[in-house]
Amino acid sequence: MTDPRLYPCFLGPYGENDGLLEKLTVEFLRDHVYWRRNFHPEDPPAIPTHAAQQPQFMAFEARLRRELHTLSAALKRSVPFHSPRYLGHMVSDLALPGLAAQMLTLPYNPNNVSEDAAPVTIDLEIRVGLQLARLFGYDDDPAHAGCAFGHLTSGGTVANYQALRLALALKAFPVALRAAAPPGFAVPADDWSAFNLAPRAGIALLERWTAWVAALAPGARRAWEKRVQDERLEQLGLVAFFARHPDLSPPVVLAPVTAHYSWSKGMKLLGLGREQLLEVPERGMRLDPRALDAMLEDLRERRRPVLLAVAVLGTTEFGTIDPVHEVVASRDRAAHAGLGFSVHVDAAWGGYLATIFRAADGALRPLDAVRADFATFPSESTHAAMAALPRCDSITVDPHKMGYLPYGAGAFVARDQRAMALLVEDADYVFAGDGADDDYFTRFRKLGRFILEGSKSGAAAAAVYVTHRVMPLDHENFGRLPGETIRSAGAFLARAERFASDVAALATVRIPFAPDSNIVCLALNPAGNADVARMNAFMRALYDELRCDPDKAVQAREFYGSMTTLRPDALGAADTRRVFAELGLDAATLSGEDADADRLVILRHTLMNPFLDDAENGISYIDLYFDYLERRVRALLPAPAAGTASRAA
Ligand SMILES: Cc1ncc(COP(=O)(O)O)c(C=O)c1O
Repeated sequence: MTDPRLYPCFLGPYGENDGLLEKLTVEFLRDHVYWRRNFHPEDPPAIPTHAAQQPQFMAFEARLRRELHTLSAALKRSVPFHSPRYLGHMVSDLALPGLAAQMLTLPYNPNNVSEDAAPVTIDLEIRVGLQLARLFGYDDDPAHAGCAFGHLTSGGTVANYQALRLALALKAFPVALRAAAPPGFAVPADDWSAFNLAPRAGIALLERWTAWVAALAPGARRAWEKRVQDERLEQLGLVAFFARHPDLSPPVVLAPVTAHYSWSKGMKLLGLGREQLLEVPERGMRLDPRALDAMLEDLRERRRPVLLAVAVLGTTEFGTIDPVHEVVASRDRAAHAGLGFSVHVDAAWGGYLATIFRAADGALRPLDAVRADFATFPSESTHAAMAALPRCDSITVDPHKMGYLPYGAGAFVARDQRAMALLVEDADYVFAGDGADDDYFTRFRKLGRFILEGSKSGAAAAAVYVTHRVMPLDHENFGRLPGETIRSAGAFLARAERFASDVAALATVRIPFAPDSNIVCLALNPAGNADVARMNAFMRALYDELRCDPDKAVQAREFYGSMTTLRPDALGAADTRRVFAELGLDAATLSGEDADADRLVILRHTLMNPFLDDAENGISYIDLYFDYLERRVRALLPAPAAGTASRAA
């Protein structure tokens, strides 16, 4: 049953809270108009009061209305994300506080590139960074030198790219410093050790250098800064930098096979190339820490530097959670052995699950306390992964995913704000002063210096900030929302078992990977079938009625789902064997030549909607979904003739 405390949080599947949203929209639109009028009340209306009666005005309004009606009608073919019948991708209804705050802010049109263009919302964005830092257990006190820093991005893709950029800047800076530093300023002994400092040691070196130049007279200071700047990778480019340092080679990034494709994009954009993105094998769709250690050992022996190891907190396709604690332990061991690199957690999907683990006072909740609220969640490894977040160098989290906020709101959080200085880009017309002596807020109000984007939405920042204020990021508040989705996943798994036995005579049903969170995949194979292509054709037929079809009215669909595939090369031999055996498939029918038989098609369900268990009306949408699926299976697969042996699930 949905926690009643979530009732006011959304417009609702039926638009139940329309009155509240309408009141807020009108109230704050009027408020905005008063603000316009009060700027200089002595200025008369520039658009004459009679303008609306003029023919061209009326013609314009008519055109506007026609286009808006056309748009509004077309939008009725949108995917009904708000509905508990939508079990597809990582999106659901919008949190009402965020939607209202975004609409309220839009007419002010703040541009969070700098305080000049967004005196209010830029602070909100910096505070969102601190709210998220606290959620992950980072230092969130701006008075501390090592306080974290976070900012919003257009999405998880750009946040992941920011992680690559920052890690590369931090890795290469000590090499530049070694090349340019004055005699007497202690630097690492050689290029290899400079390129392999642990991130914390890199930041300490940067801080020592910053203090050293700050003590110089302005002219000397600028000269030394320029000498170092001229040696930096960002100045020289990859080719010239590595030509100057023949002991070094371009570093690799280690990411699990489950990693999102944004990592591949990032490697291309950075100029390192996809070749340098190495896949770490999985076990149960979770990064295999032993395989990671073996790869690190091999790289160290071959003197191949490592830029970043990525752990995924909530994989895109399976909702599994990598052992972040093992990855940071590997990082620390490798640094000790002379191979330094950063660890980034891609929590674009699962970051807000951390709210379940955070007490109102900011402390991490013990495993037993978290478990008391759920049947089987969380696993020990999931709890340990959450506990290890403060030890990671940076984190991606997407408010526009499990934060239930409008698109255009990803976030990047760096553990230590001091490293951000390495990303600075100057543009005198936007950012006055060099910012060296600024306090935390003054420095980051020149946000555009540090981030990939230039102009960016202040309304998005307002939406995230207000949501986090109304629903603080702890288990008593926001955490109720992901908590509900975890319970839905439990109910889905239990119902899937019943479904498997109900259709056993027709199909073998399996959950290929037990999820750690709220994404559940289902594989169905027609009973007695051993052929991969036939199973895939059956799965595609099921999916065909679950996908968004732009040519069909949305009402034509009973439910929406999504699909993904299991690729044997990503699964690895052991998991491939297990999944094939469980489904009764013959591995010999896999064919690398045939696009329909080189992988397994499976259904994917994201259980994000908080109203899946509508106890008020006695409806479980999970039950309804499995009833629907059973009807589809029976329609697609004729019942076996009496006396024919069937394969039980
Ligand atoms: C784990 C993960 N990382 C990154 C991304 C990319 O996020 P976006 O689509 O917001 O750019 C996604 C999107 O699904 C994701 O699941």
